[in-house]
Amino acid sequence: MQKLEQVYEGKAKKVFKTDDPELYIVDYKDDATAFNGLKKGTIAGKGVINNQMTNALMRRLEKAGIPTHFVKELSERETLVKKVSIVPLEVIIRNLSAGSFAKRYGVEEGIVFDAPTIEFSYKNDELGDPLLNSYHALALKLATAEEIDTIKKYAFAVNDVLKAFWSECGVILVDFKLEFGRLSDGTIVLADEISPDTCRLWDEKTHEKLDKDRFRRDLGGVEDAYAEIMKRLLAHDAD
Ligand code: TMP
Ligand code: ASP
Repeated sequence: MQKLEQVYEGKAKKVFKTDDPELYIVDYKDDATAFNGLKKGTIAGKGVINNQMTNALMRRLEKAGIPTHFVKELSERETLVKKVSIVPLEVIIRNLSAGSFAKRYGVEEGIVFDAPTIEFSYKNDELGDPLLNSYHALALKLATAEEIDTIKKYAFAVNDVLKAFWSECGVILVDFKLEFGRLSDGTIVLADEISPDTCRLWDEKTHEKLDKDRFRRDLGGVEDAYAEIMKRLLAHDAD
């Protein structure tokens, strides 16, 4: 598979064309940003971990019947994926209160919800990814009603699979962000990444943060936390 010109560079990944018009190569960087790019840094080795973790979780999700863009891991940092056009919605599922939820509603972090919540943000850096509901998404023509229903169904299914898997690893899946894309025939598939950059992952016993909040909040031990969460995944991913 030949890596051709770059089509996109995001905060944490680059995307390249290939000699197959329906396939792209994603290349994961060690760059980290927070607060819509205001805070910048590097997390050594993050690109390798995020690539390998995303792929392990996407394989697991495919097995559970959730379609994804994943095709094949090519190297430590590179993965072959199906070409999609990204639906400009950040889909956030929460099992416990944390982050912007805790701040917005004035509650402490760590409250366990009776049922998971779902929320959408409009993926738009200039506007700071504003929160919106499905009516707003329809009004802005970001997705059709049918697509939104599919996305919601897949997002909750992803939560069921990942919550159970992380629990086997002694980790609480607090919340996470997903992105979906459309294949050229319009089929909705899970895209982007699922990594410590996009999930809150707490040690079950100590509630130690094993995710990007260590970088966002200057807690230290960022690289060690990424290494630890990857180690736990690998220890439980043998099937
Ligand atoms: P939040 O509590 O800041 O809204 O974040 C919810 C989840 O979404 C958390 O697991 C981190 C993830 N997230 C991203 O992946 N990208 C983002 O730009 C933001 C703000 C959050
Ligand atoms: N993607 C966000 C940004 O750079 C970072 C975050 O995960 O909080 O703004």
